[in-house]
Amino acid sequence: METIVLYPAPGMGHLISMVELGKFILHHHPSFSITILIVPPSFNTGSTTAYIRHISATVPSITFHHLPAISLDLDYFPSIEAVVFEVLNRSHPHVRRALETISLSATVSAFIIDFFCAHALPIAAELDIPTYYFFTSGACVLGFLIYFPTIHNTTTKSFRDMSSLLHVPGIPPLIPSSDMIKPMLDRDTTEYENLLNFAKNFPNSAGIIVNTFESLEEKPLKAIREGKCNPGGHTPPIFSVGPLLASEGSQGGSGGGIHDCLNWLDKQPSKSVVYLCFGSLGLFSAAQLKEIAVGLERSGQRFLWVVRSPPSDDKSKRFLPPPEPDLDSLLPAGFLDRTKDRGFVVKSWAPQVAVLNHESIGGFVTHCGWNSVLEAVCAAVPMVAWPLYAEQKMNRLVLVEDMRVALRMEVAEDDFVAAEEVEQRVRELMESEKGREIRKVVEEKSVEARAAMREGGSSIAALAKLVESWKRA
Ligand SMILES: *[C@@H]1O[C@H](CO)[C@@H](O)[C@H](O)[C@H]1NC(C)=O
Ligand SMILES: *[C@@H]1O[C@H](CO)[C@@H](O)[C@H](O)[C@H]1NC(C)=O
Repeated sequence: METIVLYPAPGMGHLISMVELGKFILHHHPSFSITILIVPPSFNTGSTTAYIRHISATVPSITFHHLPAISLDLDYFPSIEAVVFEVLNRSHPHVRRALETISLSATVSAFIIDFFCAHALPIAAELDIPTYYFFTSGACVLGFLIYFPTIHNTTTKSFRDMSSLLHVPGIPPLIPSSDMIKPMLDRDTTEYENLLNFAKNFPNSAGIIVNTFESLEEKPLKAIREGKCNPGGHTPPIFSVGPLLASEGSQGGSGGGIHDCLNWLDKQPSKSVVYLCFGSLGLFSAAQLKEIAVGLERSGQRFLWVVRSPPSDDKSKRFLPPPEPDLDSLLPAGFLDRTKDRGFVVKSWAPQVAVLNHESIGGFVTHCGWNSVLEAVCAAVPMVAWPLYAEQKMNRLVLVEDMRVALRMEVAEDDFVAAEEVEQRVRELMESEKGREIRKVVEEKSVEARAAMREGGSSIAALAKLVESWKRA
């Protein structure tokens, strides 16, 4: 029995893409089985339990192997990234035991790890298991991260203090240093140190699998393969196997039946509704929620808006899932009533893939998380890019300047966006010539995305090459 062991980082976004990679491998190469190592959640990672149960029940060739829980005093950590890195660091010995256990009953043909799980590389090397990365963001960010140790060596300053434009091979626009990955802005933090160490490990892998497709990110993929992102060093083979999206019915949520928002969308005109949703971790302050409401109301556009509760002031609850939002207290007085003919507000969660593919959706205001970006591209929905955390500012830059599938939401230095900006961008997306231009581009990209995943397409070819490399190993 040949098995592939996958090791995702905690967090719904990372887990879903890794599971989809597993399903993609099984679909084309059903002789393998897949084992997924799960780090138990000790903080807000989105509700993974229902999702894991759903996959276990529907995909029998995928087995979940739960690693022992790590208990942490969450008060002590400055950011969710710091929590994640600590959990993964402490899971290190458990990963070795898991690989040894799995090896007793199967041949582990390959071990595929998330970028954050670099600690596992030396273990797998000792056990003589070829290890690959699965990078769950795009090739632009991958190129940047491979290049990151080189940038680090050329300066003693933090990105936060540079106020300059950085050149990264394969990413055409110069990147403002303030657009760097959020937990990387300050050089003196443990998050920065961890990310630098993770980045240094790319060349030690047998290959890097990316959730993208060739024609979406030609330039960064070419630059990485030509070794420009690791000058003087080794670059492992790159396999772009995307877009891998969460399949319908597997996105979690409260399960069963058609969601009300889809029934509502059925009654709206074609491509008339702008959808606003900001990922499983994107939370706005109460003041920002009101500002969005005012902007939406003034825009005059139809909207479907997923509203989540603001972050808790209680430090011990910072990393826990927020409670259901109380819409009457969070939104401006009378807002729901005044917009009831053209707006629909959903609490906490919507079936995003189904929503984006609905005929009535004409635009998407997104936090630029990579999974959301791919979902929008495949559904041919143009975007307004409003980055919140992680690598999302870099994604915004690429979506707006290079791919030209999104409009830029201007976000102030304190992360605030005024109602006027929301109003103007939403109007521009739905009514302007510029909006029509990006719609045209995203429609072309969606055709290319489907072609990549068809027999003979670039992503299927990349998967075949990848599997071939396991057989030789
Ligand atoms: C885990 O963290 C400790 C303390 O920061 C560090 O010394 C150690 O190298 C880390 N382990 C791994 C596998 O990175
Ligand atoms: C960065 O500098 C260190 C110390 O001089 C060196 O060992 C390392 O190879 C350099 N890395 C890159 C990517 O230039």
